[in-house]
Amino acid sequence: MQIRFADRHPDGDFALVLPASGVDADSVRNLGGELAEALTRQRFDGEAGSAVEHFQGGRRILVVGIGKDGQESDGPEKLGGTAVARLLTSGEGHAVIDLSGAGYDADAAAKVALAMALRSWRHDRYRTKLKEKQKPTLDEVTVVGGGEDAEQRYRSRWEPVVQGVSLTRELVTEPANIIYPESFVERVRSSLDGTGVELDVLDRAAMEKLGMGALLGVAQGSVREARLLVLRWNGGEGQPTAFVGRGVTFDTGGISIKPAQGMEAMKWDMGGAGAVVGALKALALRRAKANVVGICGLVENMPSGNAQRPGDVVTTMSGQTVEVINTDAEGRLVLADALAYVQRNFKPETIIDLATLTGAILVALGHEFAGLYSNDEELAGRLMRAADESGDKLWRMPLAESFDRLIDSPIADMKNVGPREGGSITAAQFIQRFVENGVKWAHIDMAGKAWADKASATYDKGATGFGVRLLDQYVEDALEG
Ligand code: BES
Ligand code: MN
Repeated sequence: MQIRFADRHPDGDFALVLPASGVDADSVRNLGGELAEALTRQRFDGEAGSAVEHFQGGRRILVVGIGKDGQESDGPEKLGGTAVARLLTSGEGHAVIDLSGAGYDADAAAKVALAMALRSWRHDRYRTKLKEKQKPTLDEVTVVGGGEDAEQRYRSRWEPVVQGVSLTRELVTEPANIIYPESFVERVRSSLDGTGVELDVLDRAAMEKLGMGALLGVAQGSVREARLLVLRWNGGEGQPTAFVGRGVTFDTGGISIKPAQGMEAMKWDMGGAGAVVGALKALALRRAKANVVGICGLVENMPSGNAQRPGDVVTTMSGQTVEVINTDAEGRLVLADALAYVQRNFKPETIIDLATLTGAILVALGHEFAGLYSNDEELAGRLMRAADESGDKLWRMPLAESFDRLIDSPIADMKNVGPREGGSITAAQFIQRFVENGVKWAHIDMAGKAWADKASATYDKGATGFGVRLLDQYVEDALEG
């Protein structure tokens, strides 16, 4: 779907989208009594994201609420997203969204366009039998009345983010027979071609040499070989900030196998790695003035005659040993070696890791927030602000010595699971054991956020692209400027 900006309505056929705070809004009044009456009869009250359709003079008019005073912070995104959700398969090919009555500045107008682009994303590659009326028809949107700087703002700041989020959603949506460690790397390589992101790949032999016994222990049950993907965006100066993503391309649980019910969801267990890749793409496309390294630990967790067993003890790259009590608690094993690698090779001042790590975070925070853990108050504060700005919501969770004691092991330095209670916290404590002294670190448990069973303003059901906007916003606020 193309997004254009113009200062007046174009010629030809289009559906008209009008933002309105209520039935008395100027945009409604200007179109005359019939529209106002239609809205009143349909009890339109201007609530942000509500929408009413009306036909007048042969034209479809979609009135979308922007809230009573039009100033709710997520109002622009709700407006753009709602409009596209309503029109995408409506039969309309072109929509004009007229912002002149909304009282938005260029930033807000650009956010409207951002939400429109994000909400139009679909993955129809394997749907060969879509009925005509299920197919998207909307291929062009024109934003009118957004102000002079809206287009520049959208193109330079948000279009790159749309590209990044789209890549993440694609990787998350693809099934595990298509995206496995090797093919993940190749998909990313072709998607990042020409962006200026440097890419390195470690194969199994390279990781064996480095002593990555934890990551390789997870991968050993699968015929799909593990990979460590290393991405670098060098847009700034000084020590890089590291983003580390969990990339379990499919999680059966291994020998501690998961129940069949719902296991197909574990194709998106690489959502953390997907977010890291998408964020680097966005940063490169918008030429962010920051040095960032992105590490993805890519494995498939399978049961087999060669799979690791409960009770196995593995030696991690850091030298610490782990008793693998449960082979389904594999994400933390992958992250342990990815963290050791990034610290030894890049000496980052700050590390942010993202992982669909635990079912326990879903019990705690549902699908509303990802859990944020950090050993640094300033970093945590910055991430919380980036979460508010970006809409990728976070909720701070605790770390404490008493939780750390729960993963002590009688045979090794630690075990990979604690008790059921506090399961997301003990997972975070495990990861923290691989963070070196003086490194600022944050961990984001996003198990409830990579995939959505219900649509929102910026995504349909399915892959959300969670994390890309968060990291992108964090970089702008904390590292650029
Ligand atoms: N990938 C899962 C976590 C997960 C669960 C993500 C549900 C999304 C939805 C992770 O590898 C896992 O299996 N965790 C176990 C840990 C347990 C064995 C300590 C879990 O949360 O059940
Ligand atoms: Mn698992």
